[in-house]
Amino acid sequence: MDTLEIQRVRGTNDVIPPESALLSELARNLRAHFELYGYQAIDTPLIENLDLFLRKSGEEIAARMYTFTHWNRKLCLRPEFTASVMRAYVNHLQDRSLPVRLHYAGPTFRYEKPQRGRYRQFTEVGLECIGGEGAAADAEVLAAACGALRAVGLRRYRLVVGHLQAVLQLLRQLGIEEHGQALILGDMENLARRRADREQVVNRVLALMGVGSMDGEESAEDSGLLPSLMAEFGSEGAAHVAADLLGRANLVLEGGSRSPEEIVERLLSKASRPDPTEQVRRATDFIVRLHQLAGPPPEVFGRLEALLVQHGLKPEPLREVERALTLFDRHELGKPEVIVDLGLGRGLRYYTGLVFEIYHDGTGGAASQLCGGGRYDDLVRSLGGRDQVPAVGFSFGLERVRLALDSEQGAEPRAWEVDALVVALEAEDEPDAVGLASELREAGITVELDVRRRGVKANLRHADRQRIPLVVIYGQREREQGRPVVRDMQTRQEVQVERSDLLAAVRDRL
Ligand code: HAM
Repeated sequence: MDTLEIQRVRGTNDVIPPESALLSELARNLRAHFELYGYQAIDTPLIENLDLFLRKSGEEIAARMYTFTHWNRKLCLRPEFTASVMRAYVNHLQDRSLPVRLHYAGPTFRYEKPQRGRYRQFTEVGLECIGGEGAAADAEVLAAACGALRAVGLRRYRLVVGHLQAVLQLLRQLGIEEHGQALILGDMENLARRRADREQVVNRVLALMGVGSMDGEESAEDSGLLPSLMAEFGSEGAAHVAADLLGRANLVLEGGSRSPEEIVERLLSKASRPDPTEQVRRATDFIVRLHQLAGPPPEVFGRLEALLVQHGLKPEPLREVERALTLFDRHELGKPEVIVDLGLGRGLRYYTGLVFEIYHDGTGGAASQLCGGGRYDDLVRSLGGRDQVPAVGFSFGLERVRLALDSEQGAEPRAWEVDALVVALEAEDEPDAVGLASELREAGITVELDVRRRGVKANLRHADRQRIPLVVIYGQREREQGRPVVRDMQTRQEVQVERSDLLAAVRDRL
C-alpha cells in the first residue's frame, strides 16, 4: 500500500480552524453590508460552459482558465462570477423590475503563478447592479465596496477610479480596429504599472494585430512582392498570381494546414491594411501620459480635461467620473483616499465605462489589489439577453481582504470558539450529560461534549488548550445530588449548581 502523504494541488489552500471561521465570518459581514443597499444573494454553478467566458471575458482570462472536455462538452471552472451572474440573469430574471441587485461569494479558479495573495483557487465576494444606469449606480457600487471594507474594520485603503472611454475615444479617433482596441485595453494595466517595457507592449499588440512577425509570413510582405503584384494586377489578379506561384513551387509551408489560397488571402488582407504601428505607439504614449497625470480629485479634473481637449477628445468620461465621485462622497462617510486615473485598465474585456480598483499597501505585491470592478453595458446582449441592459459591479478577493486586515490589526483570532465543555465521568453519567449539553445548545450556547471519556484532568487540559472558558463536570456525586459542577477555567473556581440553574450559571460566566 502506498502510504506517502498526498499533497494539495499547487496554488490551492486548505482553510483550517480557526482561520476557516474568520474567513467565513468576513464573507458574511461583507455580504451583510451589501444587503443594506438591497442586494440579494445569488449562487451559480462552479462549472460553466467554456463558451460563456470566451464571449466577452477576453484573452487574459481565457488563457488562464481551467478547461476540460467531458462527454464532448467543453466546460470550465468559473474564473470569475460576473459572466455567470449575467447568464443567470438572462436565463431567469429578465422579467424582473430593474435594477436587479445581486451579491455572491464563492470559489473561483485561475491558472496563475502562485504567490502570497495570488492563488489558483481563491474566493470572490462581490455584487452586480443589473440595470443600474449612470453616475447614481456607479456611486452606489463604489460606496458599497468601500463601506463594506470599513464595516469589517479596514482603514487604510485606496480607491482608484478610471473610465475606459477616454482611451477608447482616442483609439477610435486613431482608426484602430476593434480587435486592436481590445488588445490595447488589455495591455493598459501593464503599461500603467510600467511592469512591461513600452516597446514590448507595442510589439506584442502589433504582433497580435497581425502586423510584424508572428508566423514568418512577413517575409513575402517585406520583400514588397505582394504590394507590387497588387499594384500591377489589382487584388484579385495578385491573389491569382501569388497562389499560382506558391502552388507551382510546391512549397511545404509552415503550419501546413492552410491552402496556398488561404495563405495568399491572409497576406493580401494584411498587405492592404494600413500599417498601424504609429497609431499603436501614439495610443500607448497617451495611456502612459494619462497614468502620469493621475491624482486625487478635484484638482486632477482640470489637468485631465486639458489633456483630453488637447487630443481633440470629449471630456464626457471625465464628467461621469466626477459625477459619480460627487455622489460617492455623500454615500461614503469613511472618506478613503481616492485617485482618478484614466489610464486604469482592467484584465477583463467586458468593461465599457467607469472602472475601479481598491488597493491596500499592507501586504504588497499581487495581494495589494483587494477589489476590482466597473461598468459593463454590453454583456447582457452578448450573452443573448433580450434587451441591452446596463450594469455595474465589483468583486473582492476575500483572501486578500483578510491579509489586509491582518496587516492592520495583527492576526486577531476570536477569543474562543466553544463556550462550554460538558464532561461525563462514567458511562452512567452520559445520558444526563447529553441532556445538559442539549439544554445549553437550545439556549444558543456552543457546547462540546467529551466523547473520549478521558477523566477530569485530561478534559481540563483539553479545555485549556482549546481556550474553552467553562467546563461542566458530571460524575457520580453530581448525578446522585442532581447538581452539576461548573468550572471557570480562568479563575479556576468551581461551583455546584441546581440543575435548573445551570443555564443561568453558564451565562453569568461567559
Ligand atoms: P478581478 O479584478 O479579475 O475582477 O478579480 C476580482 C478580485 O479578485 C481582484 O481584485 C483580486 O482581489 C482577486 N483576485 C484575482 N485573482 C486572484 C488570485 N489569483 N488570487 C487571489 N485573489 C485574486 C473580476 O473578477 C470581475 N468579475 C469583477 C467585477 C464584478 N466587475 C464587475 N463586476
